[in-house]
Amino acid sequence: MKLNDEYITRIEKITNLGAGIARIEGFVVFVENSCPDDEVKVKITKINKNFAIGEIIEIIHPSADRVEPFCPMYKVCGACQIQNIKYEKQLEIKKEITQDAMKNIAHLDINIPNTIPSPKIKNYRHKIQYPVSQTKVSGRILAGYYKPKTHDLVNIKHCPIQPEICDKIIEFIREKAGICNIQGYREKTHSGDLRHVVIRNSAVNNKNLVVLVVNADKVLSKFNEFAKLIYENFDEVNGVCINFNTQKTNVILGKKTVCLFGKDYIEEKILDKTFKIGADTFFQVNPESAENIFRYVKEFLQNNCDSPVVLDAYAGISSFGIAISDVCQKVVTVEEVKASCDLAKEVAKLNNIKNIEIYNEDAAKFLRQTGGKFDAVILDPPRKGCSEESLKEACRLSDKYIIYVSCNPATLARDLKILCDIGCSVESVQPFDMFCHTYHVENVAIIKV
Ligand SMILES: C[S@@+](CC[C@H](N)C(=O)[O-])C[C@H]1O[C@@H](n2cnc3c(N)ncnc32)[C@H](O)[C@@H]1O
Repeated sequence: MKLNDEYITRIEKITNLGAGIARIEGFVVFVENSCPDDEVKVKITKINKNFAIGEIIEIIHPSADRVEPFCPMYKVCGACQIQNIKYEKQLEIKKEITQDAMKNIAHLDINIPNTIPSPKIKNYRHKIQYPVSQTKVSGRILAGYYKPKTHDLVNIKHCPIQPEICDKIIEFIREKAGICNIQGYREKTHSGDLRHVVIRNSAVNNKNLVVLVVNADKVLSKFNEFAKLIYENFDEVNGVCINFNTQKTNVILGKKTVCLFGKDYIEEKILDKTFKIGADTFFQVNPESAENIFRYVKEFLQNNCDSPVVLDAYAGISSFGIAISDVCQKVVTVEEVKASCDLAKEVAKLNNIKNIEIYNEDAAKFLRQTGGKFDAVILDPPRKGCSEESLKEACRLSDKYIIYVSCNPATLARDLKILCDIGCSVESVQPFDMFCHTYHVENVAIIKV
């Protein structure tokens, strides 16, 4: 096999990173924008020791599961890697990704049930983070996503996976920034004003919190003027904040945020609880699908434990703790971000929840140092998963179950293997679709201690 060689091949399956796999002359070839069962002509664009990359130059026989992507920016944007595949097939692929991780990494022979679909497959994403830049010659403001693996900005006028109001707010920002002398950020020279626009949108009332991330360390009068313009133009805007970020970094939000107009949060409703979401607090981006997960965990506890005491670790704004509090004797939550814990306390009060304790601490340290006993421990860590020590501590602290919520099947499988090696058993792993049209899949594993 050499560069630029052309082959006719069949796509076998989709990997956990969204590319198709074909086998050519015994070699694995990854093919983007493909669909299982496509017959395609590919050109080899890269050859590594163990695999190659191919590009489709002709679809000879499209798979019965192939569809026309509904977003015209599908190929340039790259955020929805599998939008060219029927939604029902996407769900099957996510089940298969989970099944493969359990078999190959956890060495678990377990049947994975069908993926629970997202209630909405368009306009589902309620957190938007657009980098902002500016054209060199005309000074036009650009806002959108980076092309995959680059920092080339795609100016996105309409994104069908986010609420329509977000397109309108972003367009207003593009058009009116100049009036207030706000310049788009130029990454190469680390100059300009506006680096990112972050919008948190409420699925329950369509209100928005707009966060302007600026390359400055204080509120200049032009930021104030611009924030006022945005706030006054939209009834749907609940508040406008400025976040300061002067670092040369890919991290979007700086440490400090101030609210200039309106409120510094939006409200969301999950199960029958009202939540508050701020500029930099973690909250699931697809609240309607998240509600399915919260209900699943709540019903499991209700059906399998009698008024349990539960530890919710990696808690964010204590979303699990608050959602399940009605069926628990007591809930203890632990989260490392102080702003999330402060908001969690407000939310607990707002919902009149009295049986919750909220700790602002590193989860590993808390698990190591706490001496109590719990009927169940919920673990919902970031993509990298848990440390071996934390898993052992969770096992020590729990009398009955660990409920592990994960957005990364590979680290979930690694951690389940560790838990099985110390004597736990995995009862079930249920995939949920939170991120339609992407390769991402959320799983809830129930582990008997
Ligand atoms: C995937 S989110 C889950 C949040 C929450 N369970 C929810 O569903 O909204 C992971 C959370 O873990 C927190 N986190 C990350 N590392 C942590 C650590 N070492 N100790 C405590 N919390 C941590 C993050 O700030 C984030 O809020």
